[in-house]
Amino acid sequence: MLVKTFGSAIHGIDAIIITIEVNISQGKKFYLVGLPDNAIKESHHRLVAVINNIGFKFPRRRIVINMAPADIKKEGSAYDLPIAIAILAASEQLSDKRLSEFVMMGELSLDGSLKRVKGALSMALKAKDEGFKGIIVPNENVMEAAIVEGIDVYGFSHLDEVIEMLNGDNNMGIVKLDATDQLLQLVSYSYDFEDVKGQENIKRALEIAAAGGHNVIMIGPPGSGKTMLAKRLPSILPPMSIEEALETTKIHSVAGILPEHSALISSRPYRSPHHTISDAGLVGGGTYPQPGEISLAQNGVLFLDELPEFKRTVLEVMRQPMEDRVVTISRARVTVDYPASFMLIAAMNPCPCGYYNHPDKDCVCSPGIVKSYLNKISGPLMDRIDLHVEVTPVPFNELTDSKPGTKSNDIRQRVINARQMQDIRFVDCKDVYNNAQMSTKNLGKYCNLDESGQQLLKVAMEKLSLSARAYDRIIKVARTIADLDSSQKIKTDHLAEAIQYRSLDRETWGS
Ligand SMILES: Nc1ncnc2c1ncn2[C@@H]1O[C@H](COP(=O)(O)OP(=O)(O)O)[C@@H](O)[C@H]1O
Ligand SMILES: [Mg+2]
Ligand SMILES: [Zn+2]
Repeated sequence: MLVKTFGSAIHGIDAIIITIEVNISQGKKFYLVGLPDNAIKESHHRLVAVINNIGFKFPRRRIVINMAPADIKKEGSAYDLPIAIAILAASEQLSDKRLSEFVMMGELSLDGSLKRVKGALSMALKAKDEGFKGIIVPNENVMEAAIVEGIDVYGFSHLDEVIEMLNGDNNMGIVKLDATDQLLQLVSYSYDFEDVKGQENIKRALEIAAAGGHNVIMIGPPGSGKTMLAKRLPSILPPMSIEEALETTKIHSVAGILPEHSALISSRPYRSPHHTISDAGLVGGGTYPQPGEISLAQNGVLFLDELPEFKRTVLEVMRQPMEDRVVTISRARVTVDYPASFMLIAAMNPCPCGYYNHPDKDCVCSPGIVKSYLNKISGPLMDRIDLHVEVTPVPFNELTDSKPGTKSNDIRQRVINARQMQDIRFVDCKDVYNNAQMSTKNLGKYCNLDESGQQLLKVAMEKLSLSARAYDRIIKVARTIADLDSSQKIKTDHLAEAIQYRSLDRETWGS
């Protein structure tokens, strides 16, 4: 007898429906066709054990399993469930009446319990688009899938339960969640700017960065609070929209790093890979392509601590994705895209010893060494960083001050207001959502400087010996400062503040 079930494969961050056909006839052999990898071949032995263990009979006849489309690479043991169900139905131990209604995925343990799969959210979205009535996933994945509306999502912990549901006409196992509710209820950040004493000027710089979506680098000695500050950046970004939350959740789900039983990621992600990370770890890749850190940081923050310690080549592979906000991974058989839209916050010591420009410690590095330390950072990456912030340690008396600092919530409110001005400004600009993303053409349109502004900028460029690349960055940042001030016009004091955030462009740096 021939039976069909439906599973899914992941391509990039989206799912593709896979049809599993099982035909049982006279004979004795077991065939699996349609490009299954080793894990699927091994599933033969596992399926024999599981089916016998739960009190059914693995048919000792000729079994042909075909998985289509054949040109899609199918990985892993997550096809156990649709294959097992198809075998049981083809051997008439289970009703095949409802099989066409569902897409199902799940790895089976030998005792028949269902283990989690990757990409359940993408699978639910695809199954709904294709008009399936429901999807069946392991309990551990049911929450992430259940945020999709318009499809019945069933979560089960054991193969027995799936069989019982398919044999009956009941709705056991259905889980429903309201995505918008989830988004509102769950937002929480473990770190708040309230814990940071003093450093008002740094908090201001990070507020500007958050308000315009600007990448930022902090330069300061060890212990000055750079890591502490970076961790708090997500808490002042605007709340995620439902689309952003779904997109980030999809990526984490596909990468298999979504915490068990979690539904929607509603807080902006914060990723801080170590400087020993590989190219593939950072931008994505591998034999079976996987999203890298820049995609896991989608709609959130990527923190690169000790930037000069990263291999130059590793940083260079980030250039294109940062430009395009998407990373394309090409392998012999497949090309996949992963979103990569994030805010970069980098940190570095000012010099190898750490104390260049320190208020009360002496730097032991020669000027040449300070310069070459800075030159270790890839130029193309520096070109994408709008704000340079020098962090000096807070004096002891401020550290012991019991007065709490500004709360993240208050800063975030100002950020939200500034972003609203940008939403209106860029409503007709394709692919531009914030000031940092403006092209040179956009700058001409939205960032006019009056006579005195132009004069100020000219003098500052000369006096501070700023390099040419500083020019556009200063204007973009000034635009954001004006937005925070609810001003349509960029005024001289907005420009004056923006000029301060280009320390590393000063040709005198290090000498
Ligand atoms: N402004 C500050 N307010 C409160 N604690 C601070 C501040 N700056 C530094 N600290 C304390 O010093 C520790 C070290 O800071 P850290 O962020 O690791 O410095 P860095 O990354 O610059 O080396 C922090 O964990 C925190 O306890
Ligand atoms: Mg640190
Ligand atoms: Zn030094």
